[in-house]
Amino acid sequence: ADSARSARIATLGWDELEEDIRQCRACVLCERRRQAVPGVGDRQARWMLVGEGPGAEEDQRGEPFVGQAGRLLDNMLAAIGLRRGEDVYIGNAVKCRPPHNRTPERAELAACRPYLERQIALVQPRLLVALGRPAAQALLDREIAISAARGKLFDHGGVPVVVTYHPAYLLRNPRDKAKAWEDLCFARRFMARAAAN
Ligand code: URA
Repeated sequence: ADSARSARIATLGWDELEEDIRQCRACVLCERRRQAVPGVGDRQARWMLVGEGPGAEEDQRGEPFVGQAGRLLDNMLAAIGLRRGEDVYIGNAVKCRPPHNRTPERAELAACRPYLERQIALVQPRLLVALGRPAAQALLDREIAISAARGKLFDHGGVPVVVTYHPAYLLRNPRDKAKAWEDLCFARRFMARAAAN
């Protein structure tokens, strides 16, 4: 049944995909969400960012990264000349808010993964940016520490992946903002080289 579900999701267009996400009951996170949060941005963007999962404000408004962490993310993007909605597509590893913003569990990441895969297949980004550990886990299929994975290029089915700290983490640990800035500059250099080739 799981592989049939994945195969079906892999055929959906954008509208059907978003509707499927909104109706999804594949894991326990559906029980306490106000609404599912599919994603936002340019559906043909060269950059695709992947967060962890909706928080309270996202659950309320139906859009990723619209709370405090989202404002920091927007500022970080602006610093490298990228605008939400125009230059990036933003999705989350899980589409429904985990209760009390707890970290999504492995089974929840797995249940939501066909949606993330379909979004990646539809956007066809040139670069994926994993924001924080659960996003990196969803994209790289293994557990990594952000501190060890920063500044490296990984691969997700032919799409390059870079990882950096989650903006909510940076709000709690502002001293690491400089590292996130380095990571974004690393990503931007990679994209500049990719565009030149
Ligand atoms: N944190 C995330 O990981 N995603 C959001 O959409 C909001 C906050």
